[in-house]
Order: sequence, then C-alpha cells, then structure tokens
Amino acid sequence: MASVNVFITLVLVSWLTPLCSSESSKNGDSYVRDACSVTQYRDLCIHSLAPFSNKAKRNPSKWARAGVSVTISEAKTVFEYLLKLNRSNSMRGRDRAVLSDCIECLEDTLDNLHRSLGVLRKLNGMTFNDQMGDVITWMSAALTDEDTCLDGFDDKEEINQVNLLQNRVTNMTCITSNALALVNKLATTGPENQTDP
Ligand SMILES: *[C@@H]1O[C@H](CO)[C@@H](O)[C@H](O)[C@H]1NC(C)=O
Ligand SMILES: *[C@@H]1O[C@H](CO)[C@@H](O)[C@H](O)[C@H]1NC(C)=O
Ligand SMILES: *[C@@H]1O[C@H](CO)[C@@H](O)[C@H](O)[C@H]1NC(C)=O
Repeated sequence: MASVNVFITLVLVSWLTPLCSSESSKNGDSYVRDACSVTQYRDLCIHSLAPFSNKAKRNPSKWARAGVSVTISEAKTVFEYLLKLNRSNSMRGRDRAVLSDCIECLEDTLDNLHRSLGVLRKLNGMTFNDQMGDVITWMSAALTDEDTCLDGFDDKEEINQVNLLQNRVTNMTCITSNALALVNKLATTGPENQTDP
C-alpha cells in the first residue's frame, strides 16, 4: 500500500528533475553526503541538511527527522509568501482562484508534515512498521498536494509572479521528495540500529 503510493508519487514528480538544481555542493561532509545519496535532488539535500551532520551522523532516524523538519520550515515560508500574494490582490482572472486553492493544498501539506514529524519523534520497535506506513502515506499526500498546487496556473499571464511562485513551490516539492526518500531509507533499515555508532 505505502510502496504503491511512493511509486505513484515518484512518477508524479519525476518531471521536476531539471527544475530543482542548486549549486553543486562540494562542501558537505561524508555523513550528509552518505545520507543524501538516497535522494533524487542530492545537491539540494546536501545544501539544506549539512547543518544536521554532527548530530545525525549515520542514524537514519535522525536524518528522516531532519529532512521532515527542513521541509516544514520551507513549507511555512512558501505558505506565508502565498498568503501575502493573496492579500496583495495582484493576481488576475483564473490565477486568483488557483492561488486560493493552492493555499488550501499547502495547509493540508503542513498538517501532513507535522503529523509525520510527530510520529518520527515517537518511534517504537513494536509498532515501527505501522508507524512508518503512516508516515510514508502522509508524506506522499503532502507531495501530491504540492503537485496539485502547481497545476492550473496559467503561466502566460502575470509571467513574473507566476514563475516565481512556481519556482518556490517546485523547490519545496523537491525538498519534500528528498525527505520522503530519507523516510523510506529509515523504513527499510528497520527499528534496529537507530542508535549512534
Ligand atoms: C484569498 O483572498 C481572498 C480575498 O481577496 C479571500 O476571500 C480568500 O479566502 C483568500 N484565500 C485564502 C486561502 O486565504
Ligand atoms: C529552496 O530551498 C532551500 C532550502 O530551504 C533554500 O535555501 C532555497 O533558497 C530555496 N530556493 C528557492 C528558489 O526558493
Ligand atoms: C544492524 O546492526 C547489526 C550489527 O551491527 C548488523 O549486523 C545489521 O546488518 C544491521 N542491520 C541493518 C538493517 O543495517
């Protein structure tokens, strides 16, 4: 069930690949480079997660939490930006309604990310598989909502504003995809080996 979700989600976001590059990160240490090796947008992963290296080291559970935390703060930033854009009344025509829908999708995204982080903080060997199933389902739903937000904007009008918005939401989608990969890595590692080496 969960793995089907993940498969669909990966197909869904695979077109984003060329849009989510960040400057290539040669500066990450071996811990973050190793953790990010399972993600699709590796440079972005190294760039955003490098500050967690000292604490997370080779602990998949800590990396998964770091990935989801970073996703939450990025999603909040984008959410605030969209609210401001909505208040400014600068979008015209169909894009106004699309923006409002997009904001609602991001509210769902934030709910799902917070729920995921809550469970990742309370992992338990006895219920590990069920817990990870929930987290994977919610993270996949978060990605789907972000993708729904990107749909529907008419990029021929208000080209600058819509482009900026799409870039930021796309960036967030890539960060979410990376977090989901870290969560999947944790799910396959299992409840053991979650202590620091
Ligand atoms: C966007 O702004 C309009 C008013 O201009 C408001 O009716 C609508 O609820 C806002 N949408 C969101 C999701 O805040
Ligand atoms: C993408 O997200 C990263 C990590 O939060 C951030 O540093 C970067 O500025 C974002 N880029 C864009 C285009 O929003
Ligand atoms: C967990 O650690 C043990 C002992 O270090 C090792 O034998 C085992 O392969 C590890 N399991 C995973 C899934 O990494």
